Amino acid sequence: MADCTIPQITPWIGDEEIAAVSQTLADNWITEGPRAEEFTSALNQLMGVEYGVFAPNGTLALALALMALEIGPGDQVLVPDTTFVGSATAVQMVGATPVFVEVDPLTFQIDTEHAEALVNEHTRAVMPVHLYGMCCDMDRVMAFAKKHGLKVVEDACQAVGVSFNGRHAGNFGDAGCFSFFADKTITTGEGGYVICNDSGVHEKLLLLRNQGRIDRGSFIHPAVGYNFRITDMQAALGLVQLKKLDEIKRRKLEILDWYREELDGCQDVSFLPLQENSTYVPFRTVLFHDHAHDLMTHLEAAGIQSRSFFHPLHKQPCFASLDKSQGGPLDLDDARYPNAVRGYETGLCLPIFPTLRREQVAEIGTAIRGFSA
Ligand SMILES: Cc1ncc(COP(=O)(O)O)c(C=O)c1O
Repeated sequence: MADCTIPQITPWIGDEEIAAVSQTLADNWITEGPRAEEFTSALNQLMGVEYGVFAPNGTLALALALMALEIGPGDQVLVPDTTFVGSATAVQMVGATPVFVEVDPLTFQIDTEHAEALVNEHTRAVMPVHLYGMCCDMDRVMAFAKKHGLKVVEDACQAVGVSFNGRHAGNFGDAGCFSFFADKTITTGEGGYVICNDSGVHEKLLLLRNQGRIDRGSFIHPAVGYNFRITDMQAALGLVQLKKLDEIKRRKLEILDWYREELDGCQDVSFLPLQENSTYVPFRTVLFHDHAHDLMTHLEAAGIQSRSFFHPLHKQPCFASLDKSQGGPLDLDDARYPNAVRGYETGLCLPIFPTLRREQVAEIGTAIRGFSA
């Protein structure tokens, strides 16, 4: 295997981030404080939302949102089959059961028609995932949720800066959750964020994330809560990253155009189709190829790091006990999820980080063109 010359991800951290974090340390305010407050206001403004709170990462942001909406043991939450495992483990973390929903054959976003068949008396919520930097069809999701009286927790971990019909991802449902992990559109190293527009939900989020109290200094805890706080070093980093968001978006779309130029006329590959009414801030360059996994091996040998498409949740070893064959409540037969299975078999993800250079994309294009199955 060649040394990796083109990594899957490189965070775009520069002097400004280093100075901002250093200044936080110099000011000797390292716990969640003034920078976190400033970052909260900036994020809420970007997302056009009333309230937002931090969480240590996207998975815990989802769990926090579910807890605030009082979803727990005995409840079922509809989750698309194609997503990062954290969407579903967050549901399990609060004691509820994730129920896997087949995805659209083209966009691989949640298929609400399939979801219809899965609704039962235990179904309490749906968790649409805005996959790979595009919003799913939130008109359909919201209509579906309304019809069945379900809560909506949007997994917008990959969708900072993405909007649907002019409204920011995460700002449709009862809560929306984001990740600031190192490979996300903006990063704080690790980090998460929950947004909502309801003051009651906000209050619950505040209590749950800070040991059941609003003020930090008190040892009186009116509610049961935990510690989901972040640090001001992270917030300082995030504030600088947020200032770069427009440039990050511009660069990612430019890089995607380079890929399209490089692979123009290459019959064997296709790109992820655009979701109608959604903007696009590519999380990865998603390609489809009949022999995607062999192509990934070929790229690895050429020193190019790729990633597979998300492995369908219904096939995850960690969820095997949910299958009815093992006494669980779900039918996890592959036949129910042909689109999610095909996505995994034919999809692959290529780098699209903001500092990826034109000649590196040319190198990737040459390697793809040189592949024969
Ligand atoms: C769709 C989705 N949901 C949830 C998560 C979890 O976020 P984190 O890694 O910050 O816990 C991720 C992270 O990749 C994600 O892509």
